Amino acid sequence: MTVQEQLEQLRAEIRRHEYLYYVLDQPEISDAEFDGLMRRLRELELAHPEIPVPPDSPTQRVGGAPREGFVKVRHSSPMLSLDNALDEGELRDFDRRVRELLGGEPCTYAAELKFDGLSMAVQYEDGVLRQAVTRGDGTEGEDVTENARTIRTIPLRTLAAPWPRFEVRGEVIMTKAAFERLNAEREAQGQPLYANPRNSAAGSLRVLDPSITAARQLEFHAYFLLVDGQPALPSHWQSLEMLKELGFRVGSERRLCHGVEQLLAFCREWEEKRDSLPFEIDGVVAKVDSVGDQRKLGWTAKAPRWAIAFKFTPRQAETVLENIEVQVGRTGTLTPVARLRPVTVSGVTVTSATLHNEDYIRELGLMIGDRVVVERSGDVIPRVVRVAAPGAGRRAFVMPAECPVCGGPVFRAEGEAAVRCINSSCPARLKESILHYCSRGVMDIDGMGDSIVAQLMAAGKLASIADLYELKESDLAPLELEGEKTRRRLGGKVAARILANIRATKQKPLSRLIAGLGIPFVGERTAQFLAAGFSSLDELMTAGEERLMQVEEVGPKVAASIRRFFAEPHNQALIGRLRAAGLNFQSTEKKVEGGPLAGMTFVLTGTLPTLTRDEATRLIEASGGKVTGSVSRKTSVVVAGEEAGSKLDKARELGIPVWDEAELRRRLES
Ligand code: IVH
Repeated sequence: MTVQEQLEQLRAEIRRHEYLYYVLDQPEISDAEFDGLMRRLRELELAHPEIPVPPDSPTQRVGGAPREGFVKVRHSSPMLSLDNALDEGELRDFDRRVRELLGGEPCTYAAELKFDGLSMAVQYEDGVLRQAVTRGDGTEGEDVTENARTIRTIPLRTLAAPWPRFEVRGEVIMTKAAFERLNAEREAQGQPLYANPRNSAAGSLRVLDPSITAARQLEFHAYFLLVDGQPALPSHWQSLEMLKELGFRVGSERRLCHGVEQLLAFCREWEEKRDSLPFEIDGVVAKVDSVGDQRKLGWTAKAPRWAIAFKFTPRQAETVLENIEVQVGRTGTLTPVARLRPVTVSGVTVTSATLHNEDYIRELGLMIGDRVVVERSGDVIPRVVRVAAPGAGRRAFVMPAECPVCGGPVFRAEGEAAVRCINSSCPARLKESILHYCSRGVMDIDGMGDSIVAQLMAAGKLASIADLYELKESDLAPLELEGEKTRRRLGGKVAARILANIRATKQKPLSRLIAGLGIPFVGERTAQFLAAGFSSLDELMTAGEERLMQVEEVGPKVAASIRRFFAEPHNQALIGRLRAAGLNFQSTEKKVEGGPLAGMTFVLTGTLPTLTRDEATRLIEASGGKVTGSVSRKTSVVVAGEEAGSKLDKARELGIPVWDEAELRRRLES
């Protein structure tokens, strides 16, 4: 085989695996194997500079250098908007209008999710990506080709090229997990936070430097296939199927609905299930399926008459910001919290919302007394997203100069958004750090809740996490039970159970202990990487910054924070006491190949009670297992949660073991 042929073969193979992974969510090879293929291609390209690298080579996703500004481009046909239906009645009105104009027969609609992102048009020539343009004002948008190339769900070359030129339109979105990760990073670096995934998708696509887009993990969900600005195929559903064949992500969450009743059922179903999706949707889009009928219906000046957006009940509401209080977290961070006049947001009463930090308040221009818009999305804490109207007699919020709990000095490090109480024995910090240590994702000490910890602290029995291991039944039994109307004691039985839970932590994996220490910037995820990168806590404690930075996701800032933590004599004393108490300091996580799930292939389905899909995947991978997207005879176990669907049925059919989250956790720790 000539080098040219080898290159072509390798590129085709990588494209196929990209498609299997990013579009179908059914990888056939591991990430490591995929990286190996990419490395081979890169090496082969480098070794043969005489053969030009085509722009559609999988190595060319991030090639473009930052630009000076955006070039405006005219769309092949206008990218118009959609009319909205705000309730069932309005959707029925839309259907009635459609039927009247088409002669009365029930109409077939293609129903899709309404992705909450920004729309973009991508042009292909002979199957190769040529240009990507944002919607802009609908007539003219910005050329964002170099940025779009970094999005993995946009093929650089399509799997087939049925027309010499075609255009794909769709929505660029950011998943909820990527959004939370990005904001956490920005918060740690003192950068302004994004209010929601849509804003952050827009802020990540419309940047001059494509390497920023590449780092943000955007997704593209395709919903139109056009040739010469017109629908490519006679039915919209056919176009969606074709898009999938071309290599685009067209989710399975869509349905061909015959008549308005089926359409309404689809809308209700997704309004109910929206939180189970890894991304935000704000409604359902219904399109008349037949393109012939679409032509008959035509357009108004701003929207097609053949499509409608059914909007879900908004998860935003207006209320009054009555006060801003300051809470002290376990790392001493002072967090302003909005106290709101109670308001119902999609069925839930909201009375408080996070305001993150001083800068966030300033950027919103927020003052106490203002009317504000609060948003509740999925499972995240409500946020104040903007000021609706300035309040009469509004007053500015001032961050206290002392810790509101211990009265000690506070400090804002240069370049950081957070203000911290620097008194390491501040009772607020102490209580939060003990509660963190006892929490489910860390040491999981059931029974050690807010009230018990507070009572033990008040009694002088708990001033450090190491004190947990010295508690006796007689310390716990006389405590008062929380939330009881008549005062009741905890009693011997419950006390004994709590003590057993405390004892059980001695055998927990090292990553839990690392996460429990409360090292600034070291959360559960980083703790797992650290436990996998070191053989014991002692090795971690003595590691220099260089060595620490060899660990995945540990940069200079995290490394410095770890060094600082272990250099502190109080912390060394704490670790000495934990050692004496008999906690596990050895890493069992280091050798992933030998983990408890080594060699096993998992499929996740449905919503798990506490773990997100990403978290479950990481835990399984950290224990040596592999996670794939579809159930086959090769699947070892299906982990199923609430609302598990066809994957669970398939597992039962094939006789594959099914675990719930509790079972998974048990196995992870075995
Ligand atoms: S069709 C002329 N389909 O919603 C037809 N739009 O409110 C326009 N959107 O500008 C688009 N998901 O940004 C269509 N499945 C979907 C969509 C979708 C999200 C966005 C799109 C559009 C806006 C209209």
